[in-house]
Amino acid sequence: MKRGRWTLPDKASVGHPERSEGSPAKHRDRSVASLAQDDTGIIDGAKLAAALQADVAKEVATLKARGVTPGLTVVLVGDDAASAVYVGSKERTCLELGMNGETIRRPASITEAELLAIVDRLNDDPAVHGILVQMPLPKHINSDAVIRRIRADKDVDGFHPVNVGKLSIGEKDGFAPCTPAGVLYMLQAYGVRTAGADCVIVGRSNIVGKPMASLMMQPGVDATVTVCHSRTNDLAAHTRRADILIVAAGRPRMVTADMVKPGAVVIDVGMNRIADATKKSGTRLVGDVAFDEVREVASLITPVPGGVGKMTIAMLMANTVRAAAQLS
Ligand code: GUN
Repeated sequence: MKRGRWTLPDKASVGHPERSEGSPAKHRDRSVASLAQDDTGIIDGAKLAAALQADVAKEVATLKARGVTPGLTVVLVGDDAASAVYVGSKERTCLELGMNGETIRRPASITEAELLAIVDRLNDDPAVHGILVQMPLPKHINSDAVIRRIRADKDVDGFHPVNVGKLSIGEKDGFAPCTPAGVLYMLQAYGVRTAGADCVIVGRSNIVGKPMASLMMQPGVDATVTVCHSRTNDLAAHTRRADILIVAAGRPRMVTADMVKPGAVVIDVGMNRIADATKKSGTRLVGDVAFDEVREVASLITPVPGGVGKMTIAMLMANTVRAAAQLS
């Protein structure tokens, strides 16, 4: 992995306008051999995450040979079940890739001062290259203060204002948030033509929507970006123009087939748990996109689960290894 990489310059085929004619595959040019072989139109997030993790594992081995074992420490406050699952997979993936992965668990009653003291200790620990405080935090803790306390060069979440600023001005030694970085990696790995494409993002969060917009308009990515949100007038008029539609609104199946341009590439960042009496658990995970109908219109689409989610963790590992390389 190259230092400060936001784009995928090696095998990816970004920008082949001469091969972008025709519908419905107008914005697809899947020239990465292994991915181009499957023509389901469904992006395989698990396969792609595994490929990225294999690259990360090689980087880990190189760093270890130099006496540096990349280390990520996650701080989990409280007993939110979903957060516990995410944190468990982060720690497990670290260990699978030969990295050090530690989770510090504290009860929801922890004070802000106590949490900041943990961050200070991790900031000073040379064996810790990446620090992630799992969000959301209990209401009595100021999340912004915690995020700002993490050293920017260990902030592998990319949430610190220094990293937000670096992403915004295109300084590549910072960290981009993992979910949007994973989405861009996905688009590039599948050879989606981004240059000149109309990219419409639904959602303006600091974690996904805003950094996604920054990434898509970077030189070298070169999309024309529109960011829509809950106050946007006539949302469908915007989404119907999109060559690349990225949805991170947190509303189950809000994007329907009539809102999507034929041949568009649709990325669903949504993770919504809805009631489903046919499941043993009584619930089911769905995205923000009505998958069954939109897949008939889109040229390429991510499923939920099995799409973006796995890429987020793989990108976190990639950021941590880069932090270790930059710090040592
Ligand atoms: N909670 C849900 N997603 C994330 C993430 O990417 N980072 C952190 N720190 N907390 C989260």
